[in-house]
Amino acid sequence: MNLKDCYNFNDFRKLAKKRLPSPIFHYIDGGADDEKTLKRNTDSFDDCDLIPNILASVGKPDLSTTVFGKKIDMPIFLSPTAMQRLYHHEGDKASARAAEKFGTFYSMSTMANNTIEEVADISNGPKLFQLYVHKDQSITDDLIDRCRVSGFNGMCLTVDTLVAGNRERDHRTGFTTPPKLTLQSLMSFAMRPEWVFNYFTHKKFELSNVKNKTDKGTNISKSVIEYINEQYDPAMNWKDAEYCVKRWNGPFALKGVMSIEDAKRAIDIGCTAIMISNHGGRQLDGSRSPFDQVNAIREAVGDKLEIILDGGVRRGTHVLKALAAGATACSFGKMFLFALSAGGQPGVERLLQNMHDEINRNMVLMGCKTLKELDASKLIYRK
Ligand code: LAC
Repeated sequence: MNLKDCYNFNDFRKLAKKRLPSPIFHYIDGGADDEKTLKRNTDSFDDCDLIPNILASVGKPDLSTTVFGKKIDMPIFLSPTAMQRLYHHEGDKASARAAEKFGTFYSMSTMANNTIEEVADISNGPKLFQLYVHKDQSITDDLIDRCRVSGFNGMCLTVDTLVAGNRERDHRTGFTTPPKLTLQSLMSFAMRPEWVFNYFTHKKFELSNVKNKTDKGTNISKSVIEYINEQYDPAMNWKDAEYCVKRWNGPFALKGVMSIEDAKRAIDIGCTAIMISNHGGRQLDGSRSPFDQVNAIREAVGDKLEIILDGGVRRGTHVLKALAAGATACSFGKMFLFALSAGGQPGVERLLQNMHDEINRNMVLMGCKTLKELDASKLIYRK
């Protein structure tokens, strides 16, 4: 199996599984507790059906939309995800270049293995930065200021990770940042010599954006759960979020909003967007899925916020359903990390091409010329 055999999420996942040492594969693939929310995020799209209109003279549909003040060529983008250097030695550079080619956002995590400046240097495409509020306020300030200087277009603050979720797969595999050989993981690394070779023959693993402030995660191995619990401020509140919005002073989203009240409050503190997300099912297991919640939030906030649906998207039809239910655009993490693991930049490009073609084809089949035509009339819920 290789990249040209990858047509969908499961194909990329299968190939990624063959290429990655198992602790790394399971870090991407897993969720919290019983992984019910992880599963529901995708399953929820199946509770409704698309209703196409015929003979609509669609021709070539316009797939563009605007998020974070930037027009993008299709209503999907790459979610911020940590430590991409583990999935391919080019790390964030590979995904940023791929996203730029497809005219859409690449997002950088606070826990990236490339610096803000490095990625800004190699990509003129739209760029979003994902912020965690650290216990050490100077880290947070530094990240915001550097993104401004480097010309990032938008900022999102993750609000669903005040403590780390219970990721039992990571406990079992002993996954750490940077990866550490343990008795339990030795075999899984030995069975992936190509990954091990690439890992050791390229730029050293580091949490590039924070390494000057802390050695943890760069020179001191930590499980991600320990890292989050040590570094991030569990007492973060609305005032802190408002402080970040003001300091950034540009397009800003809260990432991890699930309730109508919080969505409304995001408007009050000056956010231009929210990302409806449960962190890919990695935090609060039993949390509602983004798709189940998007319509109620859109009805409550009207056009005062861009709404990004983040979680469970695997197909072009999922994107169409999300937009019909009220989302402005969708983002996804696991799916592109599997593509990155499967084939680096060409892997992510193949995924984005597949998704583009699916969305395009399905728009024609739906009889829609523009994304605005995807409204509530195009969706019927089964129960
Ligand atoms: C995670 C954090 C780092 O989900 O975003 O692992």
